Parts: sequence; structure tokens; C-alpha cells
Amino acid sequence: MNVALIILAAGKGTRMKSALPKVLHPIAGKPMIAYSVDRAWELSNRPPVVIVGYDAAQIAAAIGERAQFVTQAEQLGTGHAVRQAYDALAGRAQIIIVTYGDMPLLTVETLQRLLDAHRAATDTPVTMLTVVADDPRGFGRVLRDERGDVTAIVEAAVATPEQLAIRELNVGVYCFDADWLWAHLPQIPLSQPKGEYYLTDIVELAAAEGHRVQAIATRDSNETLGINTRVHLAQAEAIMQQRINRKWMLAGVTMINPENVYIEAEVEIGRDSVIYPNSYLQGQTTIGEHCHIGPDTLIRDCQIGNRCELTMSVLEQAIVEDDVDMGPFGHLRKGAHLAAGVHMGNFGEVKNSFLGPGVKMGHFSYMGDAQVGADANIGAGTITCNYDGLHKNKTEIGAGAFIGSDTMLVAPVKIGKRAKTGAGSVVTHDVPDDTLAYGVPARPARSVAESPPETAAEHRSAQ
Ligand code: UD1
Ligand code: MG
Repeated sequence: MNVALIILAAGKGTRMKSALPKVLHPIAGKPMIAYSVDRAWELSNRPPVVIVGYDAAQIAAAIGERAQFVTQAEQLGTGHAVRQAYDALAGRAQIIIVTYGDMPLLTVETLQRLLDAHRAATDTPVTMLTVVADDPRGFGRVLRDERGDVTAIVEAAVATPEQLAIRELNVGVYCFDADWLWAHLPQIPLSQPKGEYYLTDIVELAAAEGHRVQAIATRDSNETLGINTRVHLAQAEAIMQQRINRKWMLAGVTMINPENVYIEAEVEIGRDSVIYPNSYLQGQTTIGEHCHIGPDTLIRDCQIGNRCELTMSVLEQAIVEDDVDMGPFGHLRKGAHLAAGVHMGNFGEVKNSFLGPGVKMGHFSYMGDAQVGADANIGAGTITCNYDGLHKNKTEIGAGAFIGSDTMLVAPVKIGKRAKTGAGSVVTHDVPDDTLAYGVPARPARSVAESPPETAAEHRSAQ
């Protein structure tokens, strides 16, 4: 039997006090509604229908093709919202599951249990999810008759004191026989004082027709947390972090203090990697095996190889191959690519540059728009002067080159293979292979086969 999901998300989300639509607020780096959409694809082979209101275009743009968007022009209640999906789904699915766009912690397992229970039951047009909780959170209360069958859901605003004492709550997640749902949605009466059509009233319609309404309870009340405020958002974030960290620990990743490790939903980590406290792994990041990450490290949208040690550093949109060690206080910016075995010590910055295998850049250097050949040694304080005020210019450093401390490489400029620069050189012209250049501005002096000035005094007299 074909299953389709309807995700309700047309509410205003006023209590978030935000310019961003509520359902686009991220949890573990992913818009909260994306959790509902991803879940839908696990249970159904067609895009879920998302009912949107005010921010339809913005939400549709963020989620794209993975969902079908239907606009509910006026927010006339949850029953009215579900009716908006009729044209998209009538005749296309036998079972309809309704969920909300603001319940990111609900699991596929729970929805699967609801679906299985619905399929197993006979003469049950609706199976609903409930939670028994001490904190009623303003949820609708579930009324049952003496046989234990559900007879109605009563909204908190209109419940009697006895009904308010009921601890079984309506989560807002239902599984329906599609034909029955489409036939009965128009029968939902208009509810006062709000003037809305409540989906919850359909439960009473079913019971009144003599059908059995089935309710199954969630085991984890966290799952039913609906996000209405930034306080709920922070609670959901914390629970999601725990789930993600637990998943990676069970997959073979060590965390020294998991309460203080923040890993976003799309990140991948290899076995036997160790994540130290106050580390943030974000976006489309993959970490290989046997890495040591942190403490105090932020990695966003990076590919990190195996056996890397990244300490107290910030890496964004970079590629790091195997056996790289970096930090403390390194910064990789967009387009940085460190080949295998690179050593990058404290206070280094690399942007849009390739550092070949085995390159050493130990202290206080900036490589921007540079290509650095294998095994080159970048002395302390070396800077690529890549910006002339108008253009970004390229620097090339040949394999095996030895760049003296505090060299300024005024780009565009090319340093040959195995070439050397003296400490404090300002290099404005290309240096051929196997040549030593030094001074301000630097001039080629001789082949590096002859010995370079070894001491500061020699250096001065050579000039
Ligand atoms: C609803 C249920 C309540 C349940 C609670 C759980 C009804 C009448 N009540 O109450 O029994 O305990 O959820 O959270 O259904 N929405 C639309 N269009 C509308 C109205 C709402 O798309 O016209 C969406 C909202 O964006 C939200 C969801 O439906 O995602 C629930 O709406 P909300 O107004 O929050 O319902 P509650 O009063 O919380
Ligand atoms: Mg609500």
C-alpha cells in the first residue's frame, strides 16, 4: 500500500521572534523541517507534501525538490491545513501520515511503529501517536471510554478541570486510511472561539461512526518536543547533539567529553579518531580514521584524511590529506589544500593554496594563492604578498625550496626548485632553480651549491 506524508508547517511561528521562518531554524546545522522531510523519504517513495503559509517561497527554496509545497493561504486550523493536500495526494496513496514541520526529534522508528500498528488493525481509519507526560505543554488531552478506546481529543483551551488532569497527550501525528480521511475532512465542524477547523475533531467523527480509533504511545517524550520558542530550540539542539555523539561513539569514535563536542548532522568520522573537548565539526565535513581533533577546533565543510592531528585550529572549505599535523592556532581558509605529511605549526594561515607533500611551514606564515612544491621549507614569518590593491596574484614555490625566515614574496613571483631565499628578503623577481637570492629587493647571488651566508654578519657583508 502506498504511503504519503503530509507535513504541516503553515503556522506563523511568532514566538520565535525571528526574521527566519521557524521551520528553517537549524538544529545540528540542518533546518528543522529537513528532519521531517528526510523521515518522510524513509517511509514513502514520493515527496512529502509540505503545507506552508507566509514564508512559502523561502522554505521551498531551502528544501528544493525533495518535497512538494502547497500553500495554505489562510491559517484556518490543522484540519483545514490537511485538506490543502487533497489535489496533490487524492488517489495517489492509500495511507496518509500527518506530522509537523517543527518536531525534529521524532524518529523514523516511532513513525514506523505507528504505520505498522495501523496496518495491523482492522476497521481503524485512524491510528494516532500519544505521549504520557507529566508536563502537559498545552497539548490536547486524549479521552478514552471504559473499554480503553479513544473517543475524542480535547484541546487544552476548552478542557474541563477533570480533562486537564489527563496525562495522555495528543502528539499531533496520525496515520489515516486515505479514502476515509478525504471523505471526512469536509465534515470537521468549525471550532470556536478561534474559528478554526481542528484535525483533532476527526477522531470524534470516527468514534461516532462506530470505528475503533487506535492510539500508540511514544517511549521517549523528547521525541514529541515541538519547537515554538528559542528555549525549545536549544533543548532540541542539546538532545540532537547527544544522539549524534552517541551514534559516532558506537561507530568507534572516542570523545573525551561528549557534552562539549558539537557535531552537525551531515558530518562523517572514521574509526579510532579522537575528538577532544570544545570541537565543532560542521557542514559537509568528513574526518578520516585515527585522527586527533581538538581541543578547541572548528572544522566546517572540509575533507580530512587519516592520521591527522589538528589542534586548536580553524579550518573552512579545505582539503587535508593523510598524516598532516597542524596547530596550535592554524587557519585554513577556502581552497586550502594540504597534501600528505604537511606540517603546519602555530599561527599559520593558508588560503586558496596547495601545499605539496611534506611541506613544512612551522611558524607565523601566510600562504595565499600559492602553489608550493613537495618538501619545501617555509621559514618563520614568510608572507605571500598576494594582493596589490587590485588583483590577487599567484606565488609559485618549487619543490625542495628553502624560504628564509621573514621572506616577503611579492606576487606574482616564482621561486625555483631547490632555490633559497635569505632571511628578511623581499622577493620581487623570479628566482631560478638552485639559486640563492637575498636582500631588499632580493637579487640572485649564486648557485645554492656554493654555501650560502651562514651567519648574520656574513649576510650583511655579502650585500
Ligand atoms: C495541535 C493539536 C493538539 C496537539 C498539538 C501538539 C489541533 C487542533 N491541536 O495543537 O491536540 O496536542 O498540536 O503539538 O490540531 N498548522 C498549519 N496550518 C494551520 C494551523 C496549524 O499548517 O492552519 C501547523 C502549524 O504550523 C504546526 C502544526 O500545524 O506545525 C500544529 O499547529 P498549532 O497551532 O501549533 O497546534 P497546537 O495548538 O499546538
Ligand atoms: Mg503547537
